[in-house]
Amino acid sequence: MELSTKNLYYKYPGASHYALRDITYKFIEGKTYLITGPNGAGKTTLLLILSGLLKPTQGEVLLDGTPIHGKELYRRFFGVLFQNPDLMLFNPTVYDEIIYSVRQICNDFRRINEDVDKWLNFFELDRSILDRQTHTLSYGYKKIVALISILIYEPKILILDEPHTNLSKKYIKKIKDIIAMNASKNGINVIASHSLTIYRDTADCVIVLNNGMIRKIVDLKRNLISTTS
Ligand SMILES: Nc1ncnc2c1ncn2[C@@H]1O[C@H](COP(=O)(O)OP(=O)(O)OP(=O)(O)O)[C@@H](O)[C@H]1O
Ligand SMILES: [Mg+2]
Repeated sequence: MELSTKNLYYKYPGASHYALRDITYKFIEGKTYLITGPNGAGKTTLLLILSGLLKPTQGEVLLDGTPIHGKELYRRFFGVLFQNPDLMLFNPTVYDEIIYSVRQICNDFRRINEDVDKWLNFFELDRSILDRQTHTLSYGYKKIVALISILIYEPKILILDEPHTNLSKKYIKKIKDIIAMNASKNGINVIASHSLTIYRDTADCVIVLNNGMIRKIVDLKRNLISTTS
């Protein structure tokens, strides 16, 4: 599996400048990519375009060389964690939230409930959280619930925007384990973060954005750096 972009440009409606300019890149299966760069560099915009949530002003996103059209492919392959989990939670209870997406593709409630328990165990959460109203959760737990609601339908492509923020060490480690597991199953991980330190041992490649352009690509495994002017 390969997710790629070809000459991507994006300008927000009414904006005077492009948030992304000429992004051409290939994300390969089994690898973890860290997109980094200063505030406003375009990290979130790139993730939203990769996930099909924003339509490029110009250019294309391709899956295995074919432009992605329609929501079905996104639903099947992509799991997207927003920078702000409040934008993801809209169901009344945690249980409803967790099963919302997987219910669109699976009718086997016994299996769904087993998977809910599996992920609660993984994150060391008590089952009582399932009855909580999502808006009463702490910011960190909102993030974890949003993440479980994605992981439960086993997407191959994980798009995670600042996944570690507001989480304690224990949960950061668990998120890094999930990233490593997905890569080991030949999935693709694309993470946006300011922190190179946290993901240095997890990422294969670091892509540095500034002013909407790729400025530097560092292959951490092969110690190769390429820069653009
Ligand atoms: N909804 C929007 N409308 C107009 N401009 C926007 C919008 N969202 C982002 N931008 C602009 O697009 C550019 C890229 O923003 P983006 O949020 O992608 O950056 P980022 O690298 O994710 O920043 P941060 O590190 O703060 O999360 C910035 O100039 C930003 O002001
Ligand atoms: Mg951002």
